[in-house]
Amino acid sequence: MCGIVGAVAQRNVVPVLLEGLSRLEYRGYDSAGLVVVRDGKLERVRSIGRVAELTEKSKNTRGLIGIAHTRWATHGAPSERNAHPHISKNHIAVVHNGIIENYEALRTRLTAAGYEFTSDTDTEVIGHLIHSHYARGNSLLSATQAALKELVGAYAIGVIAADNPDQIICARRGSPLLLGVSDSEYFIASDVSALLPVTRRVVYLEEGDVAEVGRGGYRIFDATGKRAERAVQTSELSEESVQLGEYKHYMQKEIHEQPQALADTLESVCNSQTLVPGIFGAEAAATFACIDSVLILACGTSYHAGLVARYWLEEIAGIRCNVEVASEYRYRTSVPNPKSLVVVVSQSGETADTQAALSHAKKLGHDHTLAICNVPESALVRLCKLRMLTRAGPEIGVASTKAFTTQLAALFLLTLVLAKQRGRLTAQQEQQHLHELRHLPGATQKVLELEPHIARLAKQFAGKQHALFLGRGLHYPIALEGALKLKEISYIHAEAYPAGELKHGPLALVDKDMPVISVAPNDALLEKLKSNLQEVRARGGELYVFADANTHIREADGIHIMQMPEHAGYLSPILHTIPLQLLAYYVALQKGTDVDKPRNLAKSVTVE
Ligand code: F6R
Repeated sequence: MCGIVGAVAQRNVVPVLLEGLSRLEYRGYDSAGLVVVRDGKLERVRSIGRVAELTEKSKNTRGLIGIAHTRWATHGAPSERNAHPHISKNHIAVVHNGIIENYEALRTRLTAAGYEFTSDTDTEVIGHLIHSHYARGNSLLSATQAALKELVGAYAIGVIAADNPDQIICARRGSPLLLGVSDSEYFIASDVSALLPVTRRVVYLEEGDVAEVGRGGYRIFDATGKRAERAVQTSELSEESVQLGEYKHYMQKEIHEQPQALADTLESVCNSQTLVPGIFGAEAAATFACIDSVLILACGTSYHAGLVARYWLEEIAGIRCNVEVASEYRYRTSVPNPKSLVVVVSQSGETADTQAALSHAKKLGHDHTLAICNVPESALVRLCKLRMLTRAGPEIGVASTKAFTTQLAALFLLTLVLAKQRGRLTAQQEQQHLHELRHLPGATQKVLELEPHIARLAKQFAGKQHALFLGRGLHYPIALEGALKLKEISYIHAEAYPAGELKHGPLALVDKDMPVISVAPNDALLEKLKSNLQEVRARGGELYVFADANTHIREADGIHIMQMPEHAGYLSPILHTIPLQLLAYYVALQKGTDVDKPRNLAKSVTVE
């Protein structure tokens, strides 16, 4: 989604801004822009499309202070006039991530006060509001603070003024923002990866913070306006981790990083002989002792991880589990259970719907909260009592891959810890699970060897309009995830069903043009699944079966088999995910889509 970069230095900051924006491209955007102060005037460049075009257009732009933005359209179509920065009266420039909910009322008021609106965005009200306070003689900091008090909604903003070439004012509420610190150069960004070429030393702003950033340093004020100290941290993100290296796309790289990501996520557990609640935080043992159920809240792929976990939690730990799409839960009237453990699952930790669902749950009296998240400094991690960090490393491709499998690993650990605490795990079973977890990264590596086979198979999908994914039990959510991956990046319409549901409706769709992809683990439901596959074959459907060893499903006319390794028991969903990711990737390659930045989608969905 939208990205922010800003810089104040003793050198021309335009290259820093452009490099920062290009590093935020992965978040998804449709236009970009920047503004600098030059000779007491604001000089702005905006363009629709890629940062490369903005770079071309900014060849002659220079300035020692500037702010820049990539925009993912919410209010107003993608167009140059809607691109940020927005400027008020040639004087105040603003970049903004988030959504201002009361912008219509503010727009009416500001229009009546003589402000002219040149875009359809909600952001433009921020610049005019700040200007209205600045024009009354307030400093840029006080004018911004006063304007923020009038805003309802979510924001991360950067602000500069034509007559103040020394200061950027920035603030956050509901959207992430951080400061970058270097020798006599200071930066702002919505994501640390934007600043890696210039600094690794960062200060994460907290909810409601406002900061004044100049060449000589910075000052932070909290939501009440008091001076606040925030620690300077050294980001562990390496240049390498955000470079493509030998791969063609980030998605391909991230699929291949899964063995390492799983090994890193499971490191502390696999190096130990026993499972302890402490991996979820110091208060985990006490919290887990008083819960009687689990409520998982998440969106998209992370929601699918939650769906798998429900099977594990109910079967292995014997604890009731509900899984809800965050955007539904936040608005429906539900029956709260204060003894439930609320688990939010998220790659970014900034997803607006998941954050809102968490605060809704808290308002309903849910006190026991756990974040399973890939970004340590994210809002969700800060807002939950307990946490387990997945260690997938930065995920750049919009389609989530390694974040999903590491979420599954973390949720499996939660299952085992709860099972142990509830007396449902013998010492022998615990050792067996630990043994299997230690082998998981190696098993994942083996599945990746299917890549050339899947690449060949993908050619058969290039001309298809629709696809059906089938799974049963633990693997039904994997079918959902396979369908989501295919539709996101190849734009082929894909649906997933529990295989037993076929005859209750979707079978009507099956004909020779409908590829049916089936996840076929060698588990207790295999024979049932085989009957469902016969139903498809009898209607002329073309079957693509990802079958474990010893399933005895044979290649035949209209039946293509991808041979998976031995059945991996409870961990099988993790292994079965990988070929479906590869299938989506290679079909997208066939279709020539923008794999890492599929149309209309964004990486971190920080707006509702
Ligand atoms: C799909 C995908 C999205 C995200 C969803 C939640 O490939 O990436 O469906 O899973 O937007 O994002 P996080 O996990 O960051 O909360």
